[in-house]
Amino acid sequence: MWRNTDEAYGIVAIALHWLVTAVVIGLFALGLWMVGLDYYDPWYRQGPFIHKSIGVLLFGVVLLRLVWRLTNARPRLEPGTSLPEARLASTTHFLLYLLLFAVMLAGYLISTADGRPVEVFGLFSVPAVISGFDQQEDIAGEVHLALAITLVSLAGIHALAALKHHFLDRDRTLMRMLGRRRSDTGTPH
Ligand code: HEM
Repeated sequence: MWRNTDEAYGIVAIALHWLVTAVVIGLFALGLWMVGLDYYDPWYRQGPFIHKSIGVLLFGVVLLRLVWRLTNARPRLEPGTSLPEARLASTTHFLLYLLLFAVMLAGYLISTADGRPVEVFGLFSVPAVISGFDQQEDIAGEVHLALAITLVSLAGIHALAALKHHFLDRDRTLMRMLGRRRSDTGTPH
């Protein structure tokens, strides 16, 4: 139930998958919105504060997710999946993890460019380890945006692939990431 089996994703993997999805979409929207704010807007400081705080917390969640993934069984692919398709799915999943970490690292480098720590909702702060590089803030900012756009685009393609499995292949790939058990879906495939 909590852990994955050869057949199904457990509750923890499913909850972490959808939590990360929701947070990434939220942070992407907040990030694009907040950089367009006027200096006198009350959200001019509040927006980045929330964006950075949630970003640091997301790092912990993604780390936990990766550990969970590496210490759990991987549900077998649905019957009928070709080898190239299976390889493409694994590569995409690997790249999604890589991009998640890369986006967060670049974000950290923007915030800590001037040597100040990142405050997380006033609860704790993450010290600035790498700072003072020439144009660090600008370069990290551009990289952060480019990687975030790449991450969201790849996640979009990944979501389209899930929909293709559901509506065209009519297999259980999407349903099992939504926690539906074989018996819930009627006819087994
Ligand atoms: C930022 C958004 C997203 C990220 C970063 C992401 C990442 C991942 C990763 C890394 C996996 C591999 C399993 C794991 O390691 O837990 C996975 C599996 C999966 N994702 Fe996503 N995902 C995102 C959004 C979505 C969306 C929007 C959908 C559906 C509309 C979706 C559907 C699925 C399905 C069905 C699987 C299981 C694939 C299988 O069983 O082989 N994902 N996702």
